[in-house]
Amino acid sequence: MTDFRKLTLGIAASFGLPWLLLIVVPAFKYQHIKPIAYDKEADGMDGYYPQSNANVLGMQVYIREGCVQCHTQMIRPSQFSADGWHKGWGEDQSARPAEATRANTMRDYLSEDVALLGVSRVGPDLANAGYRLAAMDRSAIHAMLYAPHSVAMWSNMPSYAHLYTVRKAQGPKSDLALPLTGKFAPAKGYEVVPTPEAEQLVDYLLSLKKAAPLPAAALGNLATAAAAK
Ligand code: HEC
Repeated sequence: MTDFRKLTLGIAASFGLPWLLLIVVPAFKYQHIKPIAYDKEADGMDGYYPQSNANVLGMQVYIREGCVQCHTQMIRPSQFSADGWHKGWGEDQSARPAEATRANTMRDYLSEDVALLGVSRVGPDLANAGYRLAAMDRSAIHAMLYAPHSVAMWSNMPSYAHLYTVRKAQGPKSDLALPLTGKFAPAKGYEVVPTPEAEQLVDYLLSLKKAAPLPAAALGNLATAAAAK
């Protein structure tokens, strides 16, 4: 074999093998995964995992605005212990939750057209943002998107003011008006209200709850999961 042939084959193998093992094989293996029915005996509940609760319109706004540049929606398995850095990222929002939230699995994204795993984690992971945000007033969530600095001065989240309308206030203050104070408040006699897109985006954020209990069947070992109960 000539050196040139060896080099070409070597290059083909070093790119081709990882492509085959990391992309083609998993794609074939997992393209048919489906929602799993909970088993009343093993799981203690009915229904399916995952539920399809994705808010499609709001998701499109989220994609268009590029939120994935800074926000992931993927909690990785903890490398060190179950009781790790993802404390507080799940359903239980107390300062010291009794149980750390679970890592995400492929099925968590089944009901979504695109899995918005995110590009980098500049801001907090939003996989379970729905639980945290539900504790906030809806207009306060809007105020954060309109002017992130009104919530945290150090935030490098950009303002999404273009999803809001500044309008002349008429009559009593609108219920929809954002609670903005100080330099973030609009001129006197004006109020800031969300556009339908901003409302859809907030609906989407509130729908982010990737913490449904995993059915024993998804864990791949019915016997152990049932025994652990
Ligand atoms: C340049 C990076 C960046 C982009 C782009 C960005 N964010 Fe953020 N986001 C942050 C940072 C940093 C924080 C934490 C500080 C804060 O609360 O402002 C944050 C906080 C948040 C929070 C509060 C999270 C929590 O755990 O309470 C939400 C919700 C949020 N962002 C939604 C969005 C949405 C929706 C978009 C797109 C419309 C977006 N972000 C785009 C950086 C970003």
